[in-house]
Amino acid sequence: MKLSQVVFSPTGTSARIAAAVAAGAGMSSRVIDVTRDEDCNLVFDPDDLVIIAAPVYGGHMSPKAAERMSGMVGNGAKCVLVAVYGNRAFENALVDMSDFAEAHGFVPVAVGAFIGEHSYSTAVHPIAAGRPDAADIAFAERFGKDIACRLESGALRRVDVTTISDQPSSPESLAMFKSFVAEYQQRKKSAGGVLLPQIDMELCGNCGICVDVCPTHAISADCRNIDPARCIKCCACVKSCPDSARSFASPFAPVLYAAFSARKDPTVCISDS
Ligand SMILES: Cc1cc2nc3c(=O)[nH]c(=O)nc-3n(C[C@H](O)[C@H](O)[C@H](O)COP(=O)(O)O)c2cc1C
Repeated sequence: MKLSQVVFSPTGTSARIAAAVAAGAGMSSRVIDVTRDEDCNLVFDPDDLVIIAAPVYGGHMSPKAAERMSGMVGNGAKCVLVAVYGNRAFENALVDMSDFAEAHGFVPVAVGAFIGEHSYSTAVHPIAAGRPDAADIAFAERFGKDIACRLESGALRRVDVTTISDQPSSPESLAMFKSFVAEYQQRKKSAGGVLLPQIDMELCGNCGICVDVCPTHAISADCRNIDPARCIKCCACVKSCPDSARSFASPFAPVLYAAFSARKDPTVCISDS
């Protein structure tokens, strides 16, 4: 039995949770990070256990994660699905991941939704700032330990992903967010244009880290330009800039901060025999 982690994680939170689940399982594992890798053609064995971790984008599995992982062949390997979201909601993400995993020949045996600092979180509008924190990591490790125990006792079976659902937000928060989205879509229709991360060349030390970390290779070598057709607004460039030269003023940040600051907790489900 081999344990692998397959992760897509532009700002690193999904990767940290996957690592904690693997550590909790108490087995050595190999990490296949597809965040910046264009082709991941991985063939697994039926007795493998694979942790698949990806962020939630717009209530779904990140499409870029699905694209990067599309070369995987499960061959009946068991998998643990980890969706990491920014304290708003994970909605259909785990169902997407489960459908994706089954279509690629995996058997999902455990699923979890965890919270990571929102990609759009800023000092002015912190959203799940600092997550995953020590409690999240401890929870993820316990999840990994429970999976390993049930694996050993032969109790891992296909899991029904619909048994876990979002922790409810208050009706006021949901109404606030819904009305913002409706108004934003209207505004976008009339204004057009694409919002991109910005760079302050006065602060930029030209280290090139943003160029290297960009999952879609959207940033020019001199750091000055971003290809709007490639940018997925994951904020890897913003969060990794050592000079704080990069920023992304997402119009969603204020409403996410206002509506979804109440702490949500991770939720998991492991199959029983
Ligand atoms: C384009 C985009 C869409 C997002 N959509 C959601 C969402 O629907 N719900 C949510 O709670 N967080 C959402 N987030 C926040 C991410 O899921 C969260 O920050 C996650 O921790 C990022 O994972 P990573 O650190 O592995 O990149 C979104 C982030 C981005 C960039």
